[in-house]
Amino acid sequence: MERENFGSKLGVVLAAAGSAVGLGNIWRFPVETGQNGGAAFIIVYLICIVLLGIPIMMSEFFIGRSTHLNAAGAYRKLAPGTKWNWVGRLGVLTGFIILSYYSVVAGWTAQYTVLSVANYFDGKSATDYIQIFNDCSANPWLSISAMLGFMLLTHFVVVRGVKSGIEKFSKVMMPALFIIIIILVICSVSLPGASKGVEYLLKPDFSKIDGSVILSAMGQAFFSLSLGLGCLCTYASYFDKDTNLGKTAFKVSIIDSFVAIMAGFIIFPAVFNIGYQLEGSDVGPSLIFITLPNVFQQSFTSLPILSYLFAVMFYFLLVVAALTSTISMHEVVTAYVSEEFNMIRRKAAWIVTLTCSFVGLFCALSFGPLSNVKIFGFSLFDFFDYVSSNIFLPVGGLLISIFIGWYLDKKYVKEEITNGGTIRVPYFKAFILILRYVAPIAIGLILLNQLGLFAFMK
Ligand code: PFF
Repeated sequence: MERENFGSKLGVVLAAAGSAVGLGNIWRFPVETGQNGGAAFIIVYLICIVLLGIPIMMSEFFIGRSTHLNAAGAYRKLAPGTKWNWVGRLGVLTGFIILSYYSVVAGWTAQYTVLSVANYFDGKSATDYIQIFNDCSANPWLSISAMLGFMLLTHFVVVRGVKSGIEKFSKVMMPALFIIIIILVICSVSLPGASKGVEYLLKPDFSKIDGSVILSAMGQAFFSLSLGLGCLCTYASYFDKDTNLGKTAFKVSIIDSFVAIMAGFIIFPAVFNIGYQLEGSDVGPSLIFITLPNVFQQSFTSLPILSYLFAVMFYFLLVVAALTSTISMHEVVTAYVSEEFNMIRRKAAWIVTLTCSFVGLFCALSFGPLSNVKIFGFSLFDFFDYVSSNIFLPVGGLLISIFIGWYLDKKYVKEEITNGGTIRVPYFKAFILILRYVAPIAIGLILLNQLGLFAFMK
């Protein structure tokens, strides 16, 4: 089967950044920052990005680009006759699961975009927002149709292929996303009470850092950079031979961190402006669906049109960010099904869309009719989220670092990372050292802690 490549270097960076930038940046990052002490958390997070994120991203790029195969096929080629291809398979399964529940939240963002365009939030009270969110998430018809709509949107981009689907879409949508972010940051930091929010993001209180903050920062770095499931490995299988893997990983990580921090600058000044507290439910997971619509309404009481535009742009921003991420997860599974089962891409994509929608259906219903169904005390949605993000992603990252740090021949790795010796990679030794020792130990600790088998520091 003829395999496509991305058409340009910019396309490569924007597509990979599209995967990385998502609900994880605009929703999860501010929530984590709020719950883990503000600026101090951000500093630990950035250290995690540099020490773990960039090396593991480079590793995924290496695995994909050196084989030009889907996640499972890539390991089979690099380690024939071994069980390493199960790392790829685990990644595909993780991508499948995350796509199923992520599309449910993505569906809510689409519902909120429609509601904000229709000016539905106008004149509502704080309790109304709780009711609106319950209606969107617990009403099975609304929730399921939004999830299916989102899955179909993702599907139609993926079936168009790598160059005219994923790359073209990312090249239009990522710049649009950056523009919206900048506008929203400017609006938010110029609100009258914004300075407290800005200070919260810029003045670190190092006494807040403890074991659990470090662990949350690492988990967030993984999720946010789309690491550990072979997503960026699949994208890298469409890179050209002369793509600089280190530079690309560096650029994608900078874009991703920039967007996350800017999301903080949109949300915290606005939240502080109307006097919300960071403790308690204002900054829980309901932040963007219950707290923020209220914040938007109250921010510009003398100029309601600004409240309207702020809300419309913010929810549209979430839709775009989520879509470029769902596309990347869909691609991981589609490339796997298509190549491993020798199937045309369109058919493989339909199989992925239909099966993921089926699983997504249960996740969507777990906020309504199936809310009493529990697995190990978790709702279906929370169970999928917990298992995939907190267990499968770190396990994937751990195995990737062991695979490159310990299993593969370093000469071969160096050859690929330096594009056959044509580019200088002065940090190669440090890269290997991190993969050999730092990453496995650090990720091992997250994992043991998540499973409650070992309490790290606190
Ligand atoms: N990085 C995405 C986000 O921050 O929302 C989530 C994600 C996308 C995770 C793709 C994993 C993945 F393969």
